[in-house]
Amino acid sequence: MGDNPLLKRAYALDGDLDKTRNVYADWAKSYDKDTIAGMGYVAPDIAAAALASRVADDALILDAGCGTGLVGEALSRHGVTAIDGLDLSEEMLQVAAEKSVYRNLAVADLTAPLPIAPDTYDAAISVGVFTSGHVGPDAIADLARVVKPGAPIVLTVHENVWEADLYPEYLSDMEAGGQLRIDEVVEAPYHEKEGYRCRLCLLLAA
Ligand SMILES: C[S@@+](CC[C@H](N)C(=O)[O-])C[C@H]1O[C@@H](n2cnc3c(N)ncnc32)[C@H](O)[C@@H]1O
Repeated sequence: MGDNPLLKRAYALDGDLDKTRNVYADWAKSYDKDTIAGMGYVAPDIAAAALASRVADDALILDAGCGTGLVGEALSRHGVTAIDGLDLSEEMLQVAAEKSVYRNLAVADLTAPLPIAPDTYDAAISVGVFTSGHVGPDAIADLARVVKPGAPIVLTVHENVWEADLYPEYLSDMEAGGQLRIDEVVEAPYHEKEGYRCRLCLLLAA
């Protein structure tokens, strides 16, 4: 890992929501510069490109754990502009709001059931959220619930948690249980300068 102290604090999180809020409150203002220029954070653009190639330009997208809005910006560059964002951190959402690429932004905890009706969205995307001490694989089921049947769900899963947190088993079980279909899982760059990779999961809601 590089020497950015906020990245170290983020990787040391343990699922305690107050600690997560504190890290991202401290990081919000410098997050884009630290991650894009500092770490070579390419995952938002890679995931957004994958999603944009699977939906119509007017599709309604849920960006789960949108942070400062890097994914919303990338989706907009790819021509997809109807995007709602959710995140635990008010400070990260404030930065996202300044970019004017989201239709709605709201505070929400992805580890609890989302206050969203079933079949609301045409697709969901979540980048940088399924990682150490943030959100675990059990949150995928609720993303599958809030998108329409057959809708794409694009997730990055950090390489450090892919096996350790049993993502292959969760996804296989969800597929066997009829909750989603696994379209493709590919290895992809994540933080290029830090040398981290991720699994880019291309799923389809059942
Ligand atoms: C590494 S950032 C990724 C943000 C953005 N998706 C990106 O790619 O730049 C992780 C984000 O997950 C959010 N997060 C962590 N735990 C969460 C939870 N339980 N519910 C909702 N958001 C959460 C954090 O607040 C932070 O904005």
